[in-house]
Amino acid sequence: MNARPGTALVTGASSGIGAAYAARLAAQGWDTVLVARRAQRLDDLARRLRAETATTVETVVADLSEPDDVARVARRAADDGVGFLLNNAGINGYGPFAGLDPGLMTKVLHVNVLAVTALARAVVPAMLERGRGTLVNVASQLAFAGSLPPDPLPERAVYGGTKGYVVTFTRTLAAELAGTRLRVQVLCPGLTATEFHRSRGDEPVPGREQSVHEEGGMPVDQVVEASLAALDTGQVVCVPGLADPAPVAGLAEAERAIRAAARRGGS
Ligand SMILES: NC(=O)c1ccc[n+]([C@@H]2O[C@H](COP(=O)([O-])OP(=O)(O)OC[C@H]3O[C@@H](n4cnc5c(N)ncnc54)[C@H](OP(=O)(O)O)[C@@H]3O)[C@@H](O)[C@H]2O)c1
Repeated sequence: MNARPGTALVTGASSGIGAAYAARLAAQGWDTVLVARRAQRLDDLARRLRAETATTVETVVADLSEPDDVARVARRAADDGVGFLLNNAGINGYGPFAGLDPGLMTKVLHVNVLAVTALARAVVPAMLERGRGTLVNVASQLAFAGSLPPDPLPERAVYGGTKGYVVTFTRTLAAELAGTRLRVQVLCPGLTATEFHRSRGDEPVPGREQSVHEEGGMPVDQVVEASLAALDTGQVVCVPGLADPAPVAGLAEAERAIRAAARRGGS
């Protein structure tokens, strides 16, 4: 009899990449903890996964822009054998920086940065103790390309900044944990066919059924597939659709050159 893989906690499981990833993990036998604000969406997905996979599915309704909710989810993440954390919940808060609502700006930072970091901090110690575990943080290709000419996307300095944080945080943590048996990945999708652009993130997208924004993009299953394949090969930076790994390898080369130059100082 095959051992069950354990429990996976997925934030932003009520739609898009998170819902698809949770379904894929459940199909692999993972018990799941589904986290988001929309209780009905989580309940619908949980019912489907229980019926299709006979795994245990728990739902946790939480607003990850609220510190108390983050702390509650972190407590759940820290106990009872969470062996896979998908830090996926994210909001965009798009809009010209000078006019950005300070409340929305704070929410973007809370959901995209603080919650990701707090939940990673909650699971890593137990994973190290058990000698295994997987952490996938969802960033965006905008972490790299955010400063390129904006069209056709809206203004996005804060969003791009948060995703840059997720890339640097995850790559640096992966380096720190190299040599352990933890798998650490930052998933950097390009435009993906989800509800993402239907809300700036202050309020959830309404409706019981999942929808897709008008911009289209890569199907969610391809994003999940790319992430799982990269976990198998140990790739830390996963950019779905990027067939040639040279640009990602080039990042490290550029960083080494910058570090060497900065050490030499002057001229
Ligand atoms: N779609 C794209 O083009 C694209 C491209 C690159 C990266 N990404 C990243 O992919 C990740 C998933 O986004 P998606 O494309 O799948 O979009 P999505 O369909 O809008 O899903 C976002 C998920 O995050 C959850 N969420 C949002 N605010 C939350 C909060 N305050 N507390 C708890 N959960 C919250 C949403 O659930 P509730 O509303 O129910 O809370 C939803 O489940 C995000 O981190 C996003 O930045 C997306």
